[in-house]
Amino acid sequence: MLEFIQPAQPDPLWAMLSAYRADLRTDKLDLIVGVYRDEHGQTPTLRAVQQAETLLASEGDSKSYRGLTGNDAFNQAMTHLLLPPALHPRTTTVQTVGGTGALRLLCDMIASIHPDATLWISNPGYINHEPIARKAGLQVRHYPYLDPHGALNEAAMLDRLAQAKPGDVVLVHGCCHNPSGVDLSADQWATLSAFLQEKRLVPLIDIAYLGLGNGLTADTTGLRHMAETLDEVLIAASCSKNLGLYCERTGCAMVIGKSPTARTHIQSLLENLARSNYSMPPDHGAAVAARIMHTPALNALWMDELEQMRLRIRQLRHALTDQIAALGDYPALAAIRHHKGMFSLLPFDKPQMQQLRREFGIYGTDAGRINLAGLTEKNLPYLAQALVSTLHTDALDQEMVS
Ligand SMILES: Cc1ncc(COP(=O)(O)O)c(C=O)c1O
Repeated sequence: MLEFIQPAQPDPLWAMLSAYRADLRTDKLDLIVGVYRDEHGQTPTLRAVQQAETLLASEGDSKSYRGLTGNDAFNQAMTHLLLPPALHPRTTTVQTVGGTGALRLLCDMIASIHPDATLWISNPGYINHEPIARKAGLQVRHYPYLDPHGALNEAAMLDRLAQAKPGDVVLVHGCCHNPSGVDLSADQWATLSAFLQEKRLVPLIDIAYLGLGNGLTADTTGLRHMAETLDEVLIAASCSKNLGLYCERTGCAMVIGKSPTARTHIQSLLENLARSNYSMPPDHGAAVAARIMHTPALNALWMDELEQMRLRIRQLRHALTDQIAALGDYPALAAIRHHKGMFSLLPFDKPQMQQLRREFGIYGTDAGRINLAGLTEKNLPYLAQALVSTLHTDALDQEMVS
């Protein structure tokens, strides 16, 4: 049997990371993977997490099996964090193996109820959305997201989504769009909600960077509007970034149905799908998150730490674009200032991204994504200079061609 295995396509991000590690230059920059780093280049364990872990360790709770829906206190806290109380009776929340597990469980659910459904994802979009949906057996189609200047292209997006059939599912990033950092405005959320309602399409909102865009409450504005206006909404939430619980695999899937009576069926389907996959999610990360969110002092500490992370990224955006402005007028790069969350999509093609790596040891993805949180105040001027030089190369090449 095993001799029939075909080598799988290596994940481009992890392959890039290996190339970065093998690079001997001391001024190289890793802006690849979506992980927050502090000013020392470290991914810290939050103090709120450490304190919750100390409390949990001292209590020595049993390691016996939990239920199929995971940690109830966590599910309750996440429901309160994301949704207004009026929606709680219609909401089923189950803990999952990170945000990825939530996406997969929801795709499995869609495939089991509606095997002909297509999942519509943004282009550009998160690199793992399509593989997750396809492995769950769903068809995938793309909707355009950005115009040639890198701004949200609402008209093109709705135009393509007009091809969706009733019952199809549209994946929307709750905030801090990965990879572009370009989010929907409140008006655009309202327009999209009305469009989905009219076309009888169901949103799947992936919210993996809650708190890192405009703040914990502001980042739920669009999601809440959609949840309050539509009959059915699916949500995949991750605590990897905003609680720094990456390796603890902590997240949840939420399903908002038309009425509270639908909950029993939804929950039994989700339990059934989880049972035949991983049975139940790991408890530790969820127990930590639940302890933080249910303990006012720890919750306040977490909010403060999360806000510090958000402000650091924002400050890096401002400092980088100030540095670029000092070098000249580059509107294509100036937009980085207003993007949300960790990522920005550079206005560079693959050869330019390769040039950044080759000439400057600056590693982003081939599609042009960089993680701003991988920067420090010290290496900002180096990045600004490298971006401007790479932009210039493109302009010169084009002059020579034309
Ligand atoms: C848009 C998006 N969704 C989901 C995830 C998955 O998060 P997790 O690490 O919790 O599985 C990520 C992780 O990078 C992401 O960027």
